Amino acid sequence: MISQQTIQQILSRVDVVEVVGSFVKLKKRGVNYIGLCPFHNEKSPSFSVSPTKEIYKCFGCGKSGNSISFLMEAEKYSYVEALRWLANKYNVEIEETEVSPELKAQYQVADSLYIINQFAQQYFAEKLFDSEEGQDIAMSYLKERGFREEIIRKFQIGYCLQERDAFAKAAIAGQYNQEYLQKSGLIVVRDERPYDNYRGRIIFPIHNQSGKVLGFGARVIGKAERAPKYINTPENEIYHKSKILYGSYFARQAIDKNDECLLVEGYTDVVSLHQAGIENVVASGGTSLTPDQLRLVKKYTKNLTIIYDGDSAGVKAALRGLDLALEEGLNVKLVLIPDNEDPDSYVNKIGAAKFQDFVKANKKDFILFQVEILMKDAGDDTNKKAALVNQIAETIAKLNKAEDFTKQQDYIRRCSSLLRIDETGLNTLVNKFIRDKVMKQESKLPVDDGQYYEDQPPPFIPEDEAGSLFNKDEMSERGMVRCLLEFGLKPWDENRRVADFIFEESVDQNMIDNKELVRVMDTYKVWYDEGIEPGPKNFLYHEDQQLSAMVVTVMDFAYELSPNWSEHFDGKLPSREDLYREEVISTVNYLKLRKIRRMVEENQRDLERPHTPEEQLVLIQTHMHLKQMEREILKQGGTVIMK
Ligand code: UTP
Ligand code: MN
Repeated sequence: MISQQTIQQILSRVDVVEVVGSFVKLKKRGVNYIGLCPFHNEKSPSFSVSPTKEIYKCFGCGKSGNSISFLMEAEKYSYVEALRWLANKYNVEIEETEVSPELKAQYQVADSLYIINQFAQQYFAEKLFDSEEGQDIAMSYLKERGFREEIIRKFQIGYCLQERDAFAKAAIAGQYNQEYLQKSGLIVVRDERPYDNYRGRIIFPIHNQSGKVLGFGARVIGKAERAPKYINTPENEIYHKSKILYGSYFARQAIDKNDECLLVEGYTDVVSLHQAGIENVVASGGTSLTPDQLRLVKKYTKNLTIIYDGDSAGVKAALRGLDLALEEGLNVKLVLIPDNEDPDSYVNKIGAAKFQDFVKANKKDFILFQVEILMKDAGDDTNKKAALVNQIAETIAKLNKAEDFTKQQDYIRRCSSLLRIDETGLNTLVNKFIRDKVMKQESKLPVDDGQYYEDQPPPFIPEDEAGSLFNKDEMSERGMVRCLLEFGLKPWDENRRVADFIFEESVDQNMIDNKELVRVMDTYKVWYDEGIEPGPKNFLYHEDQQLSAMVVTVMDFAYELSPNWSEHFDGKLPSREDLYREEVISTVNYLKLRKIRRMVEENQRDLERPHTPEEQLVLIQTHMHLKQMEREILKQGGTVIMK
């Protein structure tokens, strides 16, 4: 754990313009900086960075956030990785708080494994390039398969000599711990003697997101007759097969650029496609996709294109687990490679350009593809057909996120026509599955602990939440929180600060509906009561990205005056700073009035029900009292405008 002090030190030094500027070319424009948005393709800049607010926002794609969320989004860092990056940039020494001895031990093992893997990778690469055996046996095989030296170096491919323990000897001579060497899977101990696990094999290192080696896939040279084709690293502190997408380290930028991730089965497929100039490609390692792998893809793009061989095993593996991809909101397409080829052999056969054309021309929609396959399978069997309709309806039901509504309708239309069934019928069936799912989720709710995954992307503010779409109520609630964040520590009257006033007026009377905004205010209050002086910064860099994102929208750019305007007024224009009292009063009054009007309405509804004369009197008095309060607020000035 990074200590709170370190975090504070980092945050006091970060400069959002500098951080974003390390990745995006920025130009000063008035008080802000602008540039081309790194998150979507654009020709004219709509990406804006505000040094004063310490946030960025793209007016094209709607992405916004702070230095940390920028690193998390642009570089796919976790929160902690982003902090470490900043610490490094700003020369802050990281102080770790005490971790449990178990955790410490685990980190130590992990560190050792990384170091061993790095040593092994270099050792194997050297043997491939610089030993006679490596050249004669391994390099010649790789060349024969069409791999060029440049790509072999890029993927850091290597070779393990046939000798029983050449690597083990080198590692032990280098003082590497034998226990960890075993854990890494590089050596095996038999009869108390260590020997190399990957003897005579080509070594494919497997990298994590930042390029460190997690483990290896070791392939026999030529046909695998007695031995398995690949030997893989066993599960250990750093190698978790279900979380690995081979090639993601090399594919990242291309995936961003193309906004599409190609998925193949094997290591060699990834390397060959790279060599052909197709770089947005990763491999699943021959098994069906796991939820963790899908989550990783989703960090980069929503568009997943699966390229598998046409043989049935591959296709079946592809279909498995894919409902999950739909549920995650990924657009899944499928491309089948013909004639018993795989992507590696096919691209070598027809060349890069034709391969790309082929992929483009043969992308099938995953759901429609499923319909096709299942229909072929069902033939004339009525039972099978009924099961098939059910299965498709269930798949379509997985697309029930709000954003996917039109997509869902489109699928219902297309599938019902493919299946030659009634569209309304399919619609009803889909709805039934959605209901079932919701029920199931609700019954599960208390168990769900809302666990925070470090590798999950931070929640960003969706485009449709743009300021213009908020209604006046929502705007005012946000206005209140903005006042608190911006002016909370300024004086209100002799004994109170703005924050005191706002809390007296609002929190106690719960005038805010939006739960997230309430959470911001509550968090502020806790800090404030503890004597910490909170400002937007405390929130912007809060580990809770939801909270941080909320504050970013609240502290939006909307209120900044255009620089031309203030020049025009020769600096005499009153700033928001000068007017903060008015702004606070006007916002609080609006919310108070809203609350009073709601109470009036409720009271009136109550009056319409039968009552005893006494009760009626109380209700009428309440009504008069509320109306009086309303008048008083309105009297305070013309600043309040009701809808
Ligand atoms: P493939 O059999 O398609 O191998 O398995 P490949 O990568 O295309 O290799 P070449 O082209 O025959 O040389 C696909 C993936 O399945 C995993 C590996 O990750 C492989 O890349 N696999 C396969 C294993 O882990 N072990 C095996 O024995 C076979
Ligand atoms: Mn292959």
